[in-house]
Amino acid sequence: MKRKKEMTDLLLKLQQASAVLAAAVEPEDAERLLLEELRQLCNADLAVLLQPAAPQCWRSTLFLADGTFSSTERSMEISWAAGGSGIQLRTAIEQVLDQSKSLCCDDPIRAGEFDFSHLRLIEIEQDRQVRSCLLLPLSIHNGRPQQIVELIRLDRAQAIAGFSIEEQMLGSILSQQASAALVRMHSRREQSELFESLIQLIGSAIDEKSPYAGDHCRRVPVLTMMLTRAVSESQSTAFKPVHFSNPELYELEVAAWLHDIGKLITPIHISDKATKLERTFDRFDLVRTRFEILRRDIEIVRLRAGERAGEVEIPESGDDLQQMLEDLRFLADCNCGRNSLSEPDTGRVCEIAERYRWIDRQGEERPVLSEDEAANLMVVRGTLTDEEREMINHHVVSTINMLDMLPFPEELARVPEIAGSHHEAYSGAGFPTGLSGAQMLLQTRILAFADRFESISAGSRPYKKSNSLNRSLQILREMVDDGQIDPDLYRLFVEEKLYEGYAIEFLSRDQIDPVDRGALLEGL
Ligand SMILES: [Fe+2]
Ligand SMILES: [Fe+2]
Repeated sequence: MKRKKEMTDLLLKLQQASAVLAAAVEPEDAERLLLEELRQLCNADLAVLLQPAAPQCWRSTLFLADGTFSSTERSMEISWAAGGSGIQLRTAIEQVLDQSKSLCCDDPIRAGEFDFSHLRLIEIEQDRQVRSCLLLPLSIHNGRPQQIVELIRLDRAQAIAGFSIEEQMLGSILSQQASAALVRMHSRREQSELFESLIQLIGSAIDEKSPYAGDHCRRVPVLTMMLTRAVSESQSTAFKPVHFSNPELYELEVAAWLHDIGKLITPIHISDKATKLERTFDRFDLVRTRFEILRRDIEIVRLRAGERAGEVEIPESGDDLQQMLEDLRFLADCNCGRNSLSEPDTGRVCEIAERYRWIDRQGEERPVLSEDEAANLMVVRGTLTDEEREMINHHVVSTINMLDMLPFPEELARVPEIAGSHHEAYSGAGFPTGLSGAQMLLQTRILAFADRFESISAGSRPYKKSNSLNRSLQILREMVDDGQIDPDLYRLFVEEKLYEGYAIEFLSRDQIDPVDRGALLEGL
């Protein structure tokens, strides 16, 4: 009857220990919990973790004394190189690992089959004799066990003997359960490390694709998380109730890394279009060549006309070489897209396209500017036509489509939504869906803010000088007034000087100028 009661108690303890272990998430926590639970379950005084530290060398880590392990942690290395003191311990360890079976030794230091002299240190520290020890194999990866838990029973007044068969059995069951859990935890950690490396690889690939992107995809997550931390800690009424759980933070970070994944399929000659005529090369060189041919043709005609005066009619179009040169210079200026074009400017491009014609290799007369070239040169602001701008904006739709194809687990389910909304505007005038600030997740507003600030404050872009810190914040304020970004986030960013840490880490020294916070926040 008594024995039955003891057995029931042990099974209950096993059940409780299993429940404690099942709650662990990180393998390090699970290992520590396991040591404590095994110690209690098997009625041991101490638990030691034996694990390989280097070839021919194992580390013995003592975790427990009086149930408090963190303050009593010790570590010693057992060398079993030839002639080393641990040579026989090696046999014991290998036996446990190879057979994946527990090994129990009573009075291990003095009467055991193996050399457990490493336990002498424990005897000295505890001022008690090691009575018995139980070695249990532990797997942390698939396959062969890699670690051993060594449970130690010290000399006691009640003179309890070594570990009973039941205790050995329950210890083995719990360590096997823990092994399975540890294998799963390590595997999950390896998979998430691989996943994180992959998303960082994708972010880096997007950045590497364009020399003008700089480190955009690598910086946006940093700024996003910096802002998110500040939002969580903010005492401002706008953000006071906000609390992000760890899975939510992770979801946002993943979204920040992947927010521009759609750019992978945007043609580089559009995303990096530095001049109005640029495709895979700047087509202005062709225009220049045609003008040169035209100029030479005119000169040839003139020279011949001089020789045979009266025989050849000099063409009227383009006969003014000086004017032609000025028109070419004007077109070159239009092509670089540095200045906005006025209505007379676009009219002049049109006029030039109609006026100048050259003779190609086949002897056909052609306009010096094709229709497409003239249309590109007439772009009023920047270098992109409406169609090309549309293609660039389409990267957000591509981001959503690409991310929607991935089977994100539940805790990352909103990654496509957060990433795909980073060009939405607070006023609702953004794209692709025109969500308003109230309809956007706070995570999305934070990411949209970080995306814009990184772009504004970054270094080189096609024909765009980098802005100073104060100027970047001024542009951002203009965006707030224009309804593009969340005013509360802007206020927090400026009031809490969040830009400082970011600027020190990512902006060049000459970009960092004094910030006039009063002016930036005026009227907000
Ligand atoms: Fe984007
Ligand atoms: Fe972006």
